[in-house]
Parts: sequence; C-alpha cells; structure tokens
Amino acid sequence: MRIGIVQFAPEFGDKEYNLGTISAVLNKAEADLVVLPELCTTGYQFKDMEEVRALCEPVPGGESVRVFERVCRERNLFIVAGIGELAEEICYNASVLVGPEGHVGTYRKVHLFDEEKDWFRPGTQGFPVWDIGPVKIGMMVCFDWIFPESVRSLALAGADLICHPANLVLPYCPDAMITRSIENRVFTATANRTGREARGGKEPLTFIGRSQITDPKGNRLAVFGAEEEGLKIAEIDVPQARNKRITKRNDLWEDRRPDQYHA
Ligand code: ACM
Repeated sequence: MRIGIVQFAPEFGDKEYNLGTISAVLNKAEADLVVLPELCTTGYQFKDMEEVRALCEPVPGGESVRVFERVCRERNLFIVAGIGELAEEICYNASVLVGPEGHVGTYRKVHLFDEEKDWFRPGTQGFPVWDIGPVKIGMMVCFDWIFPESVRSLALAGADLICHPANLVLPYCPDAMITRSIENRVFTATANRTGREARGGKEPLTFIGRSQITDPKGNRLAVFGAEEEGLKIAEIDVPQARNKRITKRNDLWEDRRPDQYHA
C-alpha cells in the first residue's frame, strides 16, 4: 500500500489557493492514501473567533470536503486532511477521512494546543478506527502526539496506520513518533506544514516541517526537511503492524498489565 504525505505552507484564509495547491499535488499522486497537514485549507493563526467561524465548514457538505471527494473519486485514492469543522455553531479542529465513495469519517482533536483552546471545542468522540479494506486507519491531530494515550488507544482499537495531520511548532514530535511506532508496532504518517504566520500582533509561529512516515520498527520510510514542500510516498507492508510479538515469550498486547497501571 502506497502512503503519501504532503508538506506545504497554506496561505491564511485563502481556501481557493490552498485547495488549488492541494488538488495540483494530488492530481499527480501515485498513492493509495495521502495525508495532508492540520487546518490545511485555512491556515492556523486566527485573530479572533469571527475568523474561526467564517473559515470552519460543515463536514460533510463543506467546500473542502467536496473538493477532496472529487479528487478521491477521480484519482481512486483516500485522503486524510486537517480542516476546521463547524457543527451546530460549534467549531472543531478536525481531521477528515475521504475516499473514492465520499466522506468516510471525522476525528475531532481531543488535546487542544495553546490558543486553540479559545477557538475550538475539544473532541468528545475519542479515537475511532476505520477499516478501509487494505488497512485500518486511526487519526489524531498534531499536539495529540504528546499524550501517548492517543496512539495507544488507536493501536488497541486495531489501527495499523496512524494518520497525523499537524502544524507543529515544538521540535520534539518527529523523534517522539519513532517511539510511538515502536511501542505500539504501528505505521505513522505525520503531515506537517512549513512556513511562518504572524497575525494579529501575536507572537510569530514558525512551523517545523519535517513530515515523515515511520514503520513499526521505528524506521523513517519518508522524511521531509524543515522547509521542503511537495509530496513524498512510501510503500507500507500492513501485516507488519498486525504482528505484536516481540520475542518468543513477549507479545505487546498479551504482556500488558493494566491492573498495575494508573489510569
Ligand atoms: C498543534 O497542535 N498545532 C501544535
């Protein structure tokens, strides 16, 4: 199975430009599933709640998901993308899974980062897993990485591949995701953005790039530099994520001791 990650610098508030850039990349993608960054159609550093509300959209039915649906249908692929969701007047920092037959599912970011707490309601639907045939997919968004429970929950629910749209500003995540892969024996695909935003007189944000795909042994199968843009693809061997045996006498799931752990 061919997994792609896209790294680019969205223009704040310019959905037409962002969706155009994304469509141009995806129209050439020789991949089965492509992961895009967090809030990839809107940009990240909102000035106020009015901007957030104006840029969030219904899922499905909104402009971004309609474009993703068209590309997925035409290219026969799946997309995971971070977008702002508007549902009953509430805004969520969401990740959508779209396939050749349309919208498949939505994850709402559980662990909000910094100012996001002013803009978005945290998700309350946990960490679902979707079986799309060749692979079981879990989604999480950016800062969810710092809570090992996020990937653990997805892996325990059967995810083979963690799709991880991101707008990373802290430097630690790419290395931490190696550990997440090893300790859960899963593939991960982090699609981060590049560039800088300085809006509303706030502290400028520099996004670290360094998107990557990792395998259950912690190898990086694809990796971007800090400022590189475009699409990178790696082939993943899904059964590797279904083998949780570490030694003849150790199995990652059978050897867990939940009765010894704090919640
Ligand atoms: C982040 O969660 N966007 C840092």
